[in-house]
Amino acid sequence: MRKIPGNQEHRAWEMGVEGYAVDVPVTGINNGKITLSVVITCIVAASCGLIYGYDLGISGGVTTMPSFLLKFFPSVLKKAAATKPNIYCVYDSQILTTFTSSLYIAGMFATLVASRLVKTLGRRNVMLLGGSTFLVGSALNGGAVNVAMLILGRMMLGFGLGFTNQAAPIYLSEVAPPKWRGAFGTGFQFFIGIGVLAASCINLAAAKHPHGWRFCLGLAIVPAAIMTFGALFISDSPSSLVERNKLEQAKRALLNIRGKDTDIEPELALLIRNSEMAKAINEEPFMTIFQRQYRPQLVIGMLAIPFFHQMSGINAVAFYAPVLFQSVGMGNDSALFATIILGMVNILSILVSAFAIDRCGRRFLLMEAGIQMIITEVGVAIVLALTTGTDGTKRISKGYAVLILVLMCFYAAGFGWSWGPMNWLIPIEIFPMKIRPTGQSVGIFVNFAATFLVSQTFLTMLCHLKYGTFLFYGGWILVMTIFAALLLPETKGIPLESMHTVWEKHWYWRRFVQG
Ligand code: BGC
Repeated sequence: MRKIPGNQEHRAWEMGVEGYAVDVPVTGINNGKITLSVVITCIVAASCGLIYGYDLGISGGVTTMPSFLLKFFPSVLKKAAATKPNIYCVYDSQILTTFTSSLYIAGMFATLVASRLVKTLGRRNVMLLGGSTFLVGSALNGGAVNVAMLILGRMMLGFGLGFTNQAAPIYLSEVAPPKWRGAFGTGFQFFIGIGVLAASCINLAAAKHPHGWRFCLGLAIVPAAIMTFGALFISDSPSSLVERNKLEQAKRALLNIRGKDTDIEPELALLIRNSEMAKAINEEPFMTIFQRQYRPQLVIGMLAIPFFHQMSGINAVAFYAPVLFQSVGMGNDSALFATIILGMVNILSILVSAFAIDRCGRRFLLMEAGIQMIITEVGVAIVLALTTGTDGTKRISKGYAVLILVLMCFYAAGFGWSWGPMNWLIPIEIFPMKIRPTGQSVGIFVNFAATFLVSQTFLTMLCHLKYGTFLFYGGWILVMTIFAALLLPETKGIPLESMHTVWEKHWYWRRFVQG
């Protein structure tokens, strides 16, 4: 087979360059049919988000539980008991944030290994591997007797996330019918939302029990078991099976997900063609992504989206919502309750996204939500500035605490229908098969690194910048909204295999992809 430079591949194929299947019309592919099998398969894959959401949500609640703090972080408890604590600084403890963020350090390293495994073992097997690691991590956390065990358990969960956060979103976009890829892709974020909400409810129920924290952390075994067990019953994605030369299985998987009466030959042929092209050019994948023709994917999918997703400040809210609401003067229960409300708004907004994303498009949602989130961040900053006093020792009245909650809900809704799901969708949409696992792995690495940064710095930032913290994130959201307006092409409804056309038409990116 002839070797053709990457950016020429699609055109070479279209022009009928020797060695490539020239008779595969992209239009022959079933674009919109949704079968029961594809729905079930995608639910199982998306449930990898469940454990992620649960881990995210549970740590915020557990770190405000007096029994947990007394056992592992007594100094934080002492500070909270001070007669007139500075409300912004109560939970500012590096070791406490290390508990939360150790997960991301582990995830960062696992994701680099995962890209090779996703290729050689397949997407489904990597999900299984991740699930087993979660089971160990949850058991370690639930049974922890010292900080080391606690952090080790968090790291095991992090390794698992490095695997599943990579494999599941790839799986989802490869299996979904192109016309509904956006809606299916939001499934991952939807399950993250369910996980966060479930964790908030469990936090509330367990908060008063002396061993409530053990129950909260150990219960992560349930979502881990659901996803591990579910993954045993699904087949790998057709792309992955083709990539691993399992053509018969790929055919069966395609028939299953596209429907027995569907002509799957055009899609199969296209997958084979792409896989052959990817194999014909035998390069080190971590070098390939630096080639000029992949500059748009590198900048948008591997760096900007994963980084911006975190600089929206969502995790400042997600991890620390209970801490934050306590800080602004709510009692323990009300703070946990407020977090539940936030979680529900988040889930509803992801449903809005599932409905709107393939109709209004990705860019519209990103820009609308960007404006909404900037307004709410500035709003929270103003309310805090006016009510907490310059040294942060004034308690906020109940009315203002509720106003902050309402503003946060608008913020969470904006995130839920934009940057939340888009982070798991757009990068994979724009990576050609050849660089998909590597691209996704770099993207998740950047995402975890940024999450680590945010989680490690938020409480210290809140302590020093006070209400200015929210202006800081508002500023970032402005930057990312401008980025989306200028540099992000619309990918709605375009089959993964024809994605090269969006770069060729884009005012800026076309200079990198034109041969
Ligand atoms: C992000 C998490 C975040 C969560 C909030 C996810 O997409 O990756 O970092 O905490 O959304 O729901």
